[in-house]
Amino acid sequence: MDAKNSPFLTRLDAVAAETETLLNQLLATKPIDAELARPPRLIEAMRYSSLGGGKRFRPFLVVESAALFGVPRQRALMAGAALECVHCYSLVHDDLPAMDNDELRRGQPTAHRKFDEATAILAGDSLLTFAFDILSREDTHPDAAVRIALVNALARASGVGGMAGGQMLDLAAEGRFGAQKHGETDVKMLQAMKTGALLRFGCEAGGVLASAKPHEREALERYGSAVGEAFQIADDLLDIEGDPALVGKQTGKDTAAGKATFVSVLGLAGAKTRLQQLVAEAENALATFGPNAAILIEGARFVADRRA
Ligand code: IPE
Ligand code: IPE
Ligand code: MG
Ligand code: MG
Ligand code: MG
Repeated sequence: MDAKNSPFLTRLDAVAAETETLLNQLLATKPIDAELARPPRLIEAMRYSSLGGGKRFRPFLVVESAALFGVPRQRALMAGAALECVHCYSLVHDDLPAMDNDELRRGQPTAHRKFDEATAILAGDSLLTFAFDILSREDTHPDAAVRIALVNALARASGVGGMAGGQMLDLAAEGRFGAQKHGETDVKMLQAMKTGALLRFGCEAGGVLASAKPHEREALERYGSAVGEAFQIADDLLDIEGDPALVGKQTGKDTAAGKATFVSVLGLAGAKTRLQQLVAEAENALATFGPNAAILIEGARFVADRRA
């Protein structure tokens, strides 16, 4: 990523590098504490799926939302690493033959192609549970009540009412389980769950780590909802207009699979208009933080303009 001319990219790159270092340490090949072993093939698949790639935009959201309140950076990085583990697991499972059946991820063979399906499933399972291991450690926050609040929020964002539930709706909307009609409201719900929930968690986590005031948390929630929706619209646009070499995954697959997206219900121009509205919504949501929120506003613009 070219960070030379953009303060935003410099900050994103800093979080990406620190997240890489932290995940590399956390996912060491040797067992920790009470673990009997870390089977080499499994830890290798977890490392393959979570290191050496990705924009790390979710950890960026955690770190920069936490920075609004002066939360120690290492705590935010721990919460960001946990979120990235859930995200990477979601990608490994999303790519499986039974789901989107993809061959490329972050410019590399997908986990089930590099290893095998069973190993990919187990690597996903292990990354998901590892996220909660990370959140429950004292390094993440000395106050157990804060750790429980983080665990609860990430569990909800990941599960039946969040990412996994959204993935179910995504597959159902393809018509796999019987013909289905869907409109804008259905797509909004589906995307808010499958993608929005994890990104929103990233924005809320800063407020949780800081025990922020209710109106501050509410502002971050509104920002997170707008950014979450924008993120998936941008992803859907990249599937149609993106350069596969830049996005690092196959493109042109959503229409073929009959995916329900904002592009499928609003058309290309409609989806782009919605994307710009969401960036404005994200910006407005942060008014209460004044100039301190400039970097998060840049983050919302990055989401809309990204080419990868
Ligand atoms: C891709 O997420 C999957 C979606 C939820 C749209 P990212 O675009 O954040 O993927 P990486 O982590 O940068 O590879
Ligand atoms: C991803 O949606 C949602 C996840 C929860 C992983 P997509 O299926 O569109 O993501 P890509 O395009 O494969 O990254
Ligand atoms: Mg998918
Ligand atoms: Mg996919
Ligand atoms: Mg996609």
